[in-house]
Amino acid sequence: MSPLFEPFRIGPLELHNRIVIAPMCQYSATEGSANDWHLIHLGHLALSGAGMLIVEATAVEAEGRITAGDLGLYSDANEAGLARVVGAVRAHSPIKLAIQLAHAGRKASSRAPWEGGQQIRLSEPGSWRASAPSALPHSPDEDAPTALDAAGLARIRTAFADTARRAARLGFDGIELHAAHGYLLHEFLSPLANQRDDAYGGSLENRMRFPLEVFDVVRAAFPADKPVWLRLSATDWVPGGWDIADAIAFSQALKARGCAAIHVSSGGVSPKQAIKLGAGYQVPYAQRIKAEVGLPTIAVGLITEPAQAEAIIGEGQADAVALARAMLYDPRWPWHAAAALGAQVQAPVQYWRSQPREFKDLFENAAFGAR
Ligand SMILES: Cc1cc2nc3c(=O)[nH]c(=O)nc-3n(C[C@H](O)[C@H](O)[C@H](O)COP(=O)(O)O)c2cc1C
Repeated sequence: MSPLFEPFRIGPLELHNRIVIAPMCQYSATEGSANDWHLIHLGHLALSGAGMLIVEATAVEAEGRITAGDLGLYSDANEAGLARVVGAVRAHSPIKLAIQLAHAGRKASSRAPWEGGQQIRLSEPGSWRASAPSALPHSPDEDAPTALDAAGLARIRTAFADTARRAARLGFDGIELHAAHGYLLHEFLSPLANQRDDAYGGSLENRMRFPLEVFDVVRAAFPADKPVWLRLSATDWVPGGWDIADAIAFSQALKARGCAAIHVSSGGVSPKQAIKLGAGYQVPYAQRIKAEVGLPTIAVGLITEPAQAEAIIGEGQADAVALARAMLYDPRWPWHAAAALGAQVQAPVQYWRSQPREFKDLFENAAFGAR
């Protein structure tokens, strides 16, 4: 049996295999609402045979969108838009569906990547004022965000809880909290972005406080028999920034609060980051969190080859692998991985006849006949 294709549990949620489709912003929503693009995009990924699909970073309030095209789940219209997509996926795929809940913090009010990805300055049309732990811009030449006061913190906690309730109504199987890549929750964690002098800044314990409060309200708002987990950046890749020792301490605090897994990414909080890129470059961080904290981990980042993914799972470096770009490039990656590793994959009945002659057992339960 291929380790990559063995079932895996995130808390009570059983995944059919250990391949996860990483959350990927599409910057294509309409006032935060999913549209035909999301139906096509998530619909085709849902036919991939992966164990779980995580819907892109979904903002808990309009201000918390990275770009004006980000998905949101803060209004009834947003909920109705996603209900259509979730309903279509459920009708045609057994894939487990999670959603990543996010707030952009000081990286809000940006252009889409294909428009350059830069900050939309406050003087320009279409901009809005971002908020963050401290009034420090992401890059020195950018407009500074507003430092959140007690009312702002309360508003955002409530927004996370309300959005988690909407995700529960939509029937999502799990929630991933986005605390990576320099967005709001990561900004609280990193001393590079958080220079508060109140209970939410300074010591590691204080910097973890707001993300842990958000975890608690989301956990409380989502059904107890469904998992909530968190994606973090294991390091800022900047001397003096957040690092793996901090990420381990944070993961231990999350474990004590009922977090079901840690999805281990890195970077994003500072333009000064010096990332050492390479195949599977973030896997060692997942391995350390798994070994030292004892929570299931999802490894991500330049995992592109079936044998590579198989080794990560087989050698116990992580419990699941997430793929982003490789899934866009080859949306049948799990089929091809199953073929390469001698495993089986779930495919839609409509596609069973595509099974290649040399892989006679590739599709689970496949049968076809004609007269
Ligand atoms: C188009 C695109 C959109 C992304 N959007 C998100 C997102 O919404 N949330 C997130 O945590 N990471 C996001 N990422 C990062 C990916 O989830 C992943 O961590 C990263 O691309 C590294 O994995 P890969 O080498 O398999 O692509 C995005 C990446 C891409 C390519």
